[in-house]
Amino acid sequence: MKKWKTALKCFSAAVIGLSAMVTVSSGVSAKETSTVFNWSREAVSQITMNESNTAPLIPIEDLEELTPEYHIWDTWPLQDRNGHPAVVNGHKIIFALTVPSDVTPGKRHDTAEIRYFHSKDGKSWKLGGLLFNDGQGLGSRQWAGSAIVNKDGKFHIFYTATGRKNEERLTYEQRLATATANIVTTNSSVTFTNWSDHKIILEPDGQYYQTQDQASQGEFSSYAFRDPYFFQDPKTGEEYILFEANSAGSLAERTCQKEHPGSKSFNGSIGMAKAVNDRLTEFEVLPPLLEANCVNEELERPSMMVKGNRYYLFTKTHPEKFAPGLDAPEGLYGFTSPSLIGGYKPLNGSGLVIANPKDNPYQAYSWMVMPNGTVISFVNYVNVEGKNIYEIGEQGPDYEKEHFGGMLAPSLKLSITGDQTKIVHEKKQGVFK
Ligand code: FRU
Repeated sequence: MKKWKTALKCFSAAVIGLSAMVTVSSGVSAKETSTVFNWSREAVSQITMNESNTAPLIPIEDLEELTPEYHIWDTWPLQDRNGHPAVVNGHKIIFALTVPSDVTPGKRHDTAEIRYFHSKDGKSWKLGGLLFNDGQGLGSRQWAGSAIVNKDGKFHIFYTATGRKNEERLTYEQRLATATANIVTTNSSVTFTNWSDHKIILEPDGQYYQTQDQASQGEFSSYAFRDPYFFQDPKTGEEYILFEANSAGSLAERTCQKEHPGSKSFNGSIGMAKAVNDRLTEFEVLPPLLEANCVNEELERPSMMVKGNRYYLFTKTHPEKFAPGLDAPEGLYGFTSPSLIGGYKPLNGSGLVIANPKDNPYQAYSWMVMPNGTVISFVNYVNVEGKNIYEIGEQGPDYEKEHFGGMLAPSLKLSITGDQTKIVHEKKQGVFK
Protein backbone atom coordinates (compact mmCIF):
# COMPACT_ATOMS: atom_id res chain seq x y z
CA MET A 1 0.00 0.00 0.00
CA LYS A 2 2.76 2.37 1.01
CA LYS A 3 4.76 1.50 -2.08
CA TRP A 4 1.71 2.20 -4.19
CA LYS A 5 1.25 5.56 -2.54
CA THR A 6 4.87 6.53 -3.10
CA ALA A 7 4.72 5.46 -6.72
CA LEU A 8 1.55 7.43 -7.22
CA LYS A 9 3.00 10.51 -5.64
CA CYS A 10 6.16 10.27 -7.75
CA PHE A 11 3.97 10.04 -10.78
CA SER A 12 2.07 13.09 -9.62
CA ALA A 13 5.39 14.92 -9.41
CA ALA A 14 6.05 14.02 -13.02
CA VAL A 15 2.59 15.09 -14.12
CA ILE A 16 2.40 18.30 -12.22
CA GLY A 17 6.11 18.86 -12.44
CA LEU A 18 6.51 20.69 -9.15
CA SER A 19 7.24 18.36 -6.30
CA ALA A 20 10.77 17.36 -5.37
CA MET A 21 11.59 13.73 -4.65
CA VAL A 22 13.05 13.09 -1.22
CA THR A 23 13.95 9.95 0.72
CA VAL A 24 13.40 8.74 4.28
CA SER A 25 15.68 8.91 7.26
CA SER A 26 15.18 8.49 11.00
CA GLY A 27 13.60 10.68 13.66
CA VAL A 28 14.47 13.42 16.13
CA SER A 29 12.46 14.90 19.00
CA ALA A 30 8.81 15.95 18.65
CA LYS A 31 8.13 19.49 17.44
CA GLU A 32 6.66 21.82 20.02
CA THR A 33 2.96 22.41 19.67
CA SER A 34 2.50 25.51 17.59
CA THR A 35 0.07 28.31 18.41
CA VAL A 36 -0.36 29.18 14.72
CA PHE A 37 -3.86 28.71 13.27
CA ASN A 38 -4.11 25.19 11.84
CA TRP A 39 -6.69 24.49 9.14
CA SER A 40 -8.28 21.42 10.67
CA ARG A 41 -9.60 18.11 9.37
CA GLU A 42 -12.87 19.00 11.10
CA ALA A 43 -13.24 22.15 9.01
CA VAL A 44 -12.30 20.42 5.73
CA SER A 45 -14.72 17.58 6.54
CA GLN A 46 -17.56 20.12 6.48
CA ILE A 47 -17.08 20.84 2.76
CA THR A 48 -20.24 20.62 0.72
CA MET A 49 -20.48 21.83 -2.83
CA ASN A 50 -23.50 24.01 -3.55
CA GLU A 51 -24.66 26.90 -5.75
CA SER A 52 -22.80 29.46 -3.69
CA ASN A 53 -19.39 27.88 -4.17
CA THR A 54 -19.55 25.93 -7.45
CA ALA A 55 -18.31 27.73 -10.56
CA PRO A 56 -20.34 27.46 -13.78
CA LEU A 57 -19.03 25.06 -16.42
CA ILE A 58 -16.43 26.70 -18.66
CA PRO A 59 -17.50 26.70 -22.32
CA ILE A 60 -14.00 26.35 -23.76
CA GLU A 61 -15.20 26.67 -27.37
CA ASP A 62 -16.44 30.22 -26.68
CA LEU A 63 -13.19 31.44 -25.16
CA GLU A 64 -10.27 33.31 -26.64
CA GLU A 65 -6.60 32.78 -25.96
CA LEU A 66 -4.64 35.67 -24.55
CA THR A 67 -2.05 34.78 -27.20
CA PRO A 68 -1.90 31.75 -29.54
CA GLU A 69 1.89 31.56 -29.17
CA TYR A 70 1.96 30.77 -25.46
CA HIS A 71 0.20 28.71 -22.83
CA ILE A 72 -0.48 30.99 -19.91
CA TRP A 73 -1.41 29.92 -16.40
CA ASP A 74 -0.86 31.78 -13.07
CA THR A 75 -1.72 35.42 -13.80
CA TRP A 76 -1.62 38.54 -11.64
CA PRO A 77 -2.21 42.24 -12.26
CA LEU A 78 0.03 45.18 -11.52
CA GLN A 79 -1.46 46.42 -8.25
CA ASP A 80 -1.61 49.63 -6.29
CA ARG A 81 -0.39 49.38 -2.74
CA ASN A 82 -4.02 48.85 -1.71
CA GLY A 83 -4.35 45.80 -3.97
CA HIS A 84 -6.45 47.39 -6.74
CA PRO A 85 -5.35 46.84 -10.34
CA ALA A 86 -3.13 49.84 -11.14
CA VAL A 87 -3.51 52.16 -14.13
CA VAL A 88 -0.28 53.61 -15.55
CA ASN A 89 -0.86 56.47 -17.99
CA GLY A 90 -4.09 54.81 -19.09
CA HIS A 91 -2.60 51.28 -19.32
CA LYS A 92 -3.45 48.27 -17.20
CA ILE A 93 -0.77 45.58 -17.00
CA ILE A 94 -0.95 41.89 -16.16
CA PHE A 95 1.76 39.26 -15.75
CA ALA A 96 1.49 35.54 -16.44
CA LEU A 97 3.61 32.41 -16.30
CA THR A 98 4.08 31.28 -19.89
CA VAL A 99 5.67 28.66 -22.12
CA PRO A 100 5.49 28.34 -25.93
CA SER A 101 2.25 26.59 -26.83
CA ASP A 102 4.02 23.50 -28.20
CA VAL A 103 5.28 22.60 -24.70
CA THR A 104 3.42 19.68 -23.07
CA PRO A 105 1.24 21.35 -20.42
CA GLY A 106 2.38 19.00 -17.62
CA LYS A 107 5.99 20.01 -18.30
CA ARG A 108 5.36 23.73 -18.35
CA HIS A 109 6.68 24.38 -14.83
CA ASP A 110 10.16 23.30 -15.94
CA THR A 111 10.66 26.23 -18.30
CA ALA A 112 8.20 28.86 -17.04
CA GLU A 113 8.90 32.51 -17.85
CA ILE A 114 6.99 35.65 -16.90
CA ARG A 115 5.46 37.59 -19.79
CA TYR A 116 3.40 40.76 -19.51
CA PHE A 117 0.32 42.00 -21.35
CA HIS A 118 -1.23 45.46 -21.41
CA SER A 119 -4.63 46.90 -22.12
CA LYS A 120 -6.38 50.22 -22.28
CA ASP A 121 -9.90 48.93 -21.81
CA GLY A 122 -9.01 46.30 -19.19
CA LYS A 123 -10.62 43.58 -21.34
CA SER A 124 -8.51 42.93 -24.42
CA TRP A 125 -4.84 42.33 -23.71
CA LYS A 126 -1.83 42.83 -25.95
CA LEU A 127 1.35 40.79 -25.45
CA GLY A 128 4.12 43.14 -24.27
CA GLY A 129 6.86 40.51 -24.16
CA LEU A 130 9.16 38.74 -21.78
CA LEU A 131 9.42 40.66 -18.51
CA PHE A 132 13.08 39.82 -17.83
CA ASN A 133 14.20 40.14 -21.43
CA ASP A 134 17.81 40.81 -20.48
CA GLY A 135 18.21 37.30 -19.02
CA GLN A 136 18.74 38.70 -15.51
CA GLY A 137 15.85 36.82 -13.86
CA LEU A 138 17.13 34.55 -11.08
CA GLY A 139 16.62 30.79 -11.10
CA SER A 140 16.57 28.34 -14.00
CA ARG A 141 12.94 29.39 -14.41
CA GLN A 142 10.57 31.82 -12.73
CA TRP A 143 7.35 30.92 -10.96
CA ALA A 144 4.47 33.01 -9.65
CA GLY A 145 4.66 36.28 -7.75
CA SER A 146 3.07 39.69 -7.52
CA ALA A 147 3.76 43.20 -8.77
CA ILE A 148 3.12 46.70 -7.45
CA VAL A 149 3.69 50.32 -8.29
CA ASN A 150 5.50 51.85 -5.34
CA LYS A 151 4.95 55.35 -3.90
CA ASP A 152 7.64 56.81 -6.17
CA GLY A 153 6.06 55.30 -9.30
CA LYS A 154 8.69 52.53 -9.43
CA PHE A 155 7.68 49.08 -10.56
CA HIS A 156 8.42 46.28 -8.08
CA ILE A 157 8.13 42.63 -9.01
CA PHE A 158 8.30 39.82 -6.44
CA TYR A 159 8.70 36.35 -7.93
CA THR A 160 9.83 32.80 -7.27
CA ALA A 161 13.35 31.98 -8.46
CA THR A 162 13.15 28.22 -8.96
CA GLY A 163 16.33 26.18 -9.40
CA ARG A 164 19.60 27.88 -10.32
CA LYS A 165 20.57 29.44 -13.61
CA ASN A 166 22.41 27.02 -15.93
CA GLU A 167 21.91 24.08 -13.57
CA GLU A 168 22.82 20.78 -15.21
CA ARG A 169 19.95 18.87 -13.67
CA LEU A 170 16.62 20.54 -13.02
CA THR A 171 16.23 21.24 -9.29
CA TYR A 172 13.24 22.40 -7.26
CA GLU A 173 14.95 24.87 -4.97
CA GLN A 174 12.64 27.85 -4.49
CA ARG A 175 13.67 31.30 -3.30
CA LEU A 176 11.79 34.59 -3.27
CA ALA A 177 13.29 37.33 -5.42
CA THR A 178 12.63 40.94 -6.30
CA ALA A 179 13.69 43.58 -8.83
CA THR A 180 12.56 47.09 -9.73
CA ALA A 181 12.26 48.97 -13.01
CA ASN A 182 10.73 52.09 -14.55
CA ILE A 183 7.52 51.71 -16.50
CA VAL A 184 7.70 53.56 -19.82
CA THR A 185 4.51 53.99 -21.84
CA THR A 186 3.51 55.40 -25.21
CA ASN A 187 -0.02 55.51 -26.51
CA SER A 188 0.24 51.92 -27.68
CA SER A 189 3.14 50.35 -25.77
CA VAL A 190 4.39 49.53 -22.29
CA THR A 191 8.03 48.70 -21.56
CA PHE A 192 10.15 48.21 -18.46
CA THR A 193 13.52 49.98 -18.35
CA ASN A 194 16.31 50.81 -15.95
CA TRP A 195 16.19 47.47 -14.15
CA SER A 196 17.79 47.12 -10.73
CA ASP A 197 19.85 44.04 -9.88
CA HIS A 198 17.66 41.09 -9.00
CA LYS A 199 17.90 40.20 -5.33
CA ILE A 200 16.92 37.15 -3.25
CA ILE A 201 14.80 38.45 -0.37
CA LEU A 202 13.74 35.26 1.40
CA GLU A 203 14.87 31.67 1.75
CA PRO A 204 13.46 29.05 4.14
CA ASP A 205 14.94 29.39 7.63
CA GLY A 206 14.33 25.87 8.99
CA GLN A 207 12.74 27.29 12.15
CA TYR A 208 9.35 28.29 10.76
CA TYR A 209 9.70 27.18 7.17
CA GLN A 210 10.98 23.84 5.99
CA THR A 211 14.30 23.83 4.19
CA GLN A 212 14.95 21.44 1.33
CA ASP A 213 17.35 19.64 3.59
CA GLN A 214 14.62 19.06 6.20
CA ALA A 215 12.24 17.97 3.48
CA SER A 216 14.84 15.51 2.21
CA GLN A 217 14.72 13.77 5.60
CA GLY A 218 11.11 12.84 4.97
CA GLU A 219 9.49 10.13 2.98
CA PHE A 220 8.15 12.07 0.04
CA SER A 221 6.37 15.38 0.02
CA SER A 222 5.65 18.37 -2.14
CA TYR A 223 8.27 20.99 -1.42
CA ALA A 224 7.27 24.65 -1.41
CA PHE A 225 8.82 28.00 -0.70
CA ARG A 226 7.28 30.13 -3.40
CA ASP A 227 4.61 32.52 -4.71
CA PRO A 228 5.40 35.84 -2.94
CA TYR A 229 2.47 38.23 -2.56
CA PHE A 230 2.98 41.86 -1.51
CA PHE A 231 0.46 43.18 1.01
CA GLN A 232 0.28 46.51 2.77
CA ASP A 233 -1.86 46.50 5.89
CA PRO A 234 -4.16 49.53 5.52
CA LYS A 235 -4.64 49.67 9.30
CA THR A 236 -0.92 50.06 10.14
CA GLY A 237 0.80 50.87 6.85
CA GLU A 238 3.18 47.92 7.45
CA GLU A 239 4.30 46.01 4.39
CA TYR A 240 4.49 42.24 4.14
CA ILE A 241 5.23 39.40 1.79
CA LEU A 242 3.03 36.31 2.08
CA PHE A 243 4.21 33.07 0.51
CA GLU A 244 3.49 29.38 0.18
CA ALA A 245 5.67 27.13 2.33
CA ASN A 246 5.83 23.97 4.40
CA SER A 247 5.98 23.85 8.20
CA ALA A 248 9.56 23.45 9.35
CA GLY A 249 11.17 20.27 10.56
CA SER A 250 11.50 16.79 9.19
CA LEU A 251 8.76 14.22 8.84
CA ALA A 252 9.89 12.38 11.96
CA GLU A 253 9.38 15.50 14.08
CA ARG A 254 5.66 15.77 13.31
CA THR A 255 2.79 13.87 14.81
CA CYS A 256 -0.80 13.51 13.63
CA GLN A 257 -3.73 11.96 15.48
CA LYS A 258 -3.15 8.23 15.51
CA GLU A 259 -6.34 7.65 13.51
CA HIS A 260 -4.63 9.42 10.60
CA PRO A 261 -1.09 8.07 10.46
CA GLY A 262 -0.76 8.59 6.70
CA SER A 263 -1.27 12.31 7.11
CA LYS A 264 2.15 13.15 8.51
CA SER A 265 3.70 14.34 5.29
CA PHE A 266 0.97 16.95 4.81
CA ASN A 267 2.55 20.11 6.16
CA GLY A 268 1.50 23.01 3.92
CA SER A 269 1.72 26.51 5.37
CA ILE A 270 1.27 30.15 4.46
CA GLY A 271 4.29 32.15 5.47
CA MET A 272 4.82 35.79 6.15
CA ALA A 273 7.68 38.27 6.32
CA LYS A 274 7.70 41.99 7.16
CA ALA A 275 9.49 44.68 5.15
CA VAL A 276 12.19 46.42 7.15
CA ASN A 277 13.14 49.06 4.60
CA ASP A 278 11.21 51.36 2.26
CA ARG A 279 12.90 50.00 -0.82
CA LEU A 280 11.28 46.61 -0.09
CA THR A 281 14.55 44.74 -0.35
CA GLU A 282 14.96 43.55 3.26
CA PHE A 283 12.39 41.41 5.07
CA GLU A 284 12.13 39.93 8.56
CA VAL A 285 10.76 36.38 8.62
CA LEU A 286 7.69 35.93 10.84
CA PRO A 287 5.86 32.77 11.96
CA PRO A 288 3.33 31.39 9.48
CA LEU A 289 -0.15 32.89 9.26
CA LEU A 290 -1.66 29.49 8.76
CA GLU A 291 -0.56 25.86 8.82
CA ALA A 292 -2.35 22.80 7.56
CA ASN A 293 -0.40 20.12 9.37
CA CYS A 294 -1.85 16.65 8.82
CA VAL A 295 -4.42 18.23 6.48
CA ASN A 296 -2.94 19.62 3.24
CA GLU A 297 0.49 19.87 1.65
CA GLU A 298 0.18 22.60 -0.97
CA LEU A 299 -1.38 26.01 -0.25
CA GLU A 300 -0.53 27.86 -3.43
CA ARG A 301 -0.42 31.55 -4.29
CA PRO A 302 -1.70 33.01 -1.00
CA SER A 303 -3.10 36.53 -1.13
CA MET A 304 -4.66 38.92 1.37
CA MET A 305 -7.27 41.64 1.21
CA VAL A 306 -9.09 43.80 3.70
CA LYS A 307 -12.81 44.39 3.51
CA GLY A 308 -14.66 46.33 6.17
CA ASN A 309 -12.78 45.59 9.31
CA ARG A 310 -11.75 42.09 8.36
CA TYR A 311 -8.71 40.47 6.79
CA TYR A 312 -9.29 37.83 4.13
CA LEU A 313 -6.59 35.29 3.34
CA PHE A 314 -7.02 33.23 0.17
CA THR A 315 -5.14 30.25 -1.24
CA LYS A 316 -5.71 27.52 -3.82
CA THR A 317 -5.13 23.81 -3.67
CA HIS A 318 -5.77 20.49 -5.41
CA PRO A 319 -7.81 17.45 -4.27
CA GLU A 320 -4.73 15.19 -4.22
CA LYS A 321 -2.93 17.57 -1.87
CA PHE A 322 -5.33 16.84 1.00
CA ALA A 323 -4.42 14.15 3.53
CA PRO A 324 -5.91 10.67 3.15
CA GLY A 325 -9.57 10.49 4.08
CA LEU A 326 -10.32 14.12 3.16
CA ASP A 327 -12.50 14.68 0.14
CA ALA A 328 -12.17 18.24 -1.15
CA PRO A 329 -12.35 19.79 -4.63
CA GLU A 330 -9.78 21.69 -6.66
CA GLY A 331 -10.61 25.16 -5.47
CA LEU A 332 -10.07 28.55 -3.94
CA TYR A 333 -10.10 28.45 -0.15
CA GLY A 334 -10.22 31.34 2.30
CA PHE A 335 -9.97 32.38 5.94
CA THR A 336 -10.94 35.55 7.77
CA SER A 337 -9.90 37.33 10.92
CA PRO A 338 -10.48 40.71 12.60
CA SER A 339 -6.70 41.06 12.91
CA LEU A 340 -3.86 40.41 10.49
CA ILE A 341 -2.07 37.97 12.75
CA GLY A 342 -4.07 35.26 14.51
CA GLY A 343 -7.80 34.77 14.96
CA TYR A 344 -8.47 33.20 11.54
CA LYS A 345 -11.58 31.15 10.84
CA PRO A 346 -12.28 29.23 7.63
CA LEU A 347 -14.73 31.07 5.37
CA ASN A 348 -18.11 29.33 5.07
CA GLY A 349 -17.13 27.01 7.93
CA SER A 350 -14.91 24.74 5.82
CA GLY A 351 -12.71 27.23 3.95
CA LEU A 352 -14.13 26.39 0.49
CA VAL A 353 -14.88 29.54 -1.54
CA ILE A 354 -14.86 28.42 -5.21
CA ALA A 355 -14.86 24.83 -6.48
CA ASN A 356 -14.74 23.56 -10.03
CA PRO A 357 -17.98 21.82 -10.97
CA LYS A 358 -18.06 18.03 -10.49
CA ASP A 359 -18.44 17.49 -14.26
CA ASN A 360 -15.28 19.45 -15.01
CA PRO A 361 -13.20 19.10 -11.83
CA TYR A 362 -9.95 20.58 -13.22
CA GLN A 363 -11.46 23.28 -15.45
CA ALA A 364 -9.79 26.25 -13.72
CA TYR A 365 -7.08 26.98 -11.21
CA SER A 366 -5.02 29.68 -9.56
CA TRP A 367 -7.92 31.95 -8.68
CA MET A 368 -7.02 35.43 -7.44
CA VAL A 369 -9.53 37.65 -5.64
CA MET A 370 -9.46 41.37 -6.45
CA PRO A 371 -10.57 43.93 -3.82
CA ASN A 372 -13.98 44.42 -5.51
CA GLY A 373 -14.70 40.68 -5.45
CA THR A 374 -13.79 39.94 -9.08
CA VAL A 375 -11.95 36.62 -9.21
CA ILE A 376 -9.65 35.71 -12.07
CA SER A 377 -8.21 32.27 -12.92
CA PHE A 378 -6.88 30.30 -15.90
CA VAL A 379 -8.36 27.41 -17.85
CA ASN A 380 -6.59 24.22 -16.80
CA TYR A 381 -7.72 20.75 -18.03
CA VAL A 382 -11.24 20.57 -19.44
CA ASN A 383 -13.60 17.79 -20.52
CA VAL A 384 -11.47 15.02 -19.04
CA GLU A 385 -14.42 12.64 -18.65
CA GLY A 386 -13.88 11.50 -15.11
CA LYS A 387 -10.10 11.13 -15.30
CA ASN A 388 -8.16 12.32 -12.29
CA ILE A 389 -4.96 14.33 -12.57
CA TYR A 390 -2.77 11.19 -12.61
CA GLU A 391 -4.86 9.61 -15.35
CA ILE A 392 -4.70 12.84 -17.37
CA GLY A 393 -0.90 12.63 -17.21
CA GLU A 394 -0.99 8.99 -18.35
CA GLN A 395 -2.77 9.87 -21.60
CA GLY A 396 0.33 11.39 -23.19
CA PRO A 397 1.27 14.83 -24.58
CA ASP A 398 -1.37 14.97 -27.32
CA TYR A 399 -4.21 14.37 -24.90
CA GLU A 400 -2.80 16.94 -22.49
CA LYS A 401 -2.44 19.55 -25.23
CA GLU A 402 -5.95 18.92 -26.45
CA HIS A 403 -7.49 19.29 -23.02
CA PHE A 404 -5.35 22.07 -21.53
CA GLY A 405 -6.79 25.58 -21.81
CA GLY A 406 -3.69 27.68 -21.09
CA MET A 407 -5.74 30.87 -21.26
CA LEU A 408 -7.63 33.15 -18.88
CA ALA A 409 -10.92 31.73 -17.62
CA PRO A 410 -14.13 33.78 -17.46
CA SER A 411 -13.84 35.88 -14.31
CA LEU A 412 -16.31 35.41 -11.47
CA LYS A 413 -17.94 37.89 -9.13
CA LEU A 414 -17.77 36.92 -5.49
CA SER A 415 -19.76 38.51 -2.69
CA ILE A 416 -18.01 38.52 0.66
CA THR A 417 -19.92 39.30 3.85
CA GLY A 418 -18.36 38.60 7.23
CA ASP A 419 -17.29 34.96 7.12
CA GLN A 420 -19.57 33.99 4.22
CA THR A 421 -18.95 34.14 0.47
CA LYS A 422 -21.09 33.45 -2.57
CA ILE A 423 -20.42 33.29 -6.31
CA VAL A 424 -22.78 35.94 -7.68
CA HIS A 425 -22.28 35.62 -11.42
CA GLU A 426 -19.81 34.98 -14.20
CA LYS A 427 -17.98 37.89 -15.84
CA LYS A 428 -16.13 38.18 -19.13
CA GLN A 429 -12.77 36.53 -19.73
CA GLY A 430 -9.87 38.87 -19.00
CA VAL A 431 -11.79 41.23 -16.68
CA PHE A 432 -9.79 42.00 -13.56
CA LYS A 433 -12.07 44.63 -12.08
C1 FRU B 1 0.24 27.20 -9.33
C2 FRU B 1 1.72 26.95 -9.30
C3 FRU B 1 2.42 27.94 -8.39
C4 FRU B 1 3.80 28.00 -8.95
C5 FRU B 1 3.58 27.77 -10.43
C6 FRU B 1 4.66 27.00 -11.08
O1 FRU B 1 -0.38 26.89 -10.52
O2 FRU B 1 1.94 25.63 -8.89
O3 FRU B 1 2.39 27.58 -7.05
O4 FRU B 1 4.40 29.23 -8.70
O5 FRU B 1 2.34 27.10 -10.56
O6 FRU B 1 4.44 26.87 -12.45
